[in-house]
Amino acid sequence: MSPHHAAGKGVHVFVGGASDVGWARHTLHAYAVRERFAEARAVALATAVSEIARNIVVHAERGKLSAVPITDGTRHGIVVVARDEGPGIADIERAMEDGYSTKGSLGLGLSGAKRLVDEFEIESIVGQGVTITLTQWAQGTPDSLDDL
Ligand SMILES: Nc1ncnc2c1ncn2[C@@H]1O[C@H](COP(=O)(O)OP(=O)(O)OP(=O)(O)O)[C@@H](O)[C@H]1O
Ligand SMILES: [Mg+2]
Repeated sequence: MSPHHAAGKGVHVFVGGASDVGWARHTLHAYAVRERFAEARAVALATAVSEIARNIVVHAERGKLSAVPITDGTRHGIVVVARDEGPGIADIERAMEDGYSTKGSLGLGLSGAKRLVDEFEIESIVGQGVTITLTQWAQGTPDSLDDL
């Protein structure tokens, strides 16, 4: 997570079914508000998280989300790590494209989530699962979508 460091206690959400998607969204929104995020920033993070959680349910069955507060000395934010041990993604570049879906769905979840947060990292090993790391700063960065 360098160069940023964790700045306190985090929250964890287990995702194992459709009802956990809304719970993940709610939990992350409340957590962001508690971390003094502006409402639009909290909603953007929670929306991205709900897409990632939905992907866990649809494509990997179960997984977990961990959120921790971070600071780099001048800004504060939240890092969310989502992990599953599902089938993984063979072609990440393709999976990140708008409109690509292996389930006949819209294929907008990953690309949409990436646009909603300040930093987005995705790693996968086929057969071992997916890890996605989202970083959202409370005040946003100059190029973020602050007025959703
Ligand atoms: N956690 C995951 N495990 C395995 N494959 C995944 C995972 N998340 C995404 N994928 C793959 O990446 C593709 C693109 O994901 P994305 O969320 O953009 O679209 P979708 O889930 O298919 O449709 P939508 O989210 O628009 O309903 C998926 O179709 C799936 O093949
Ligand atoms: Mg999806």
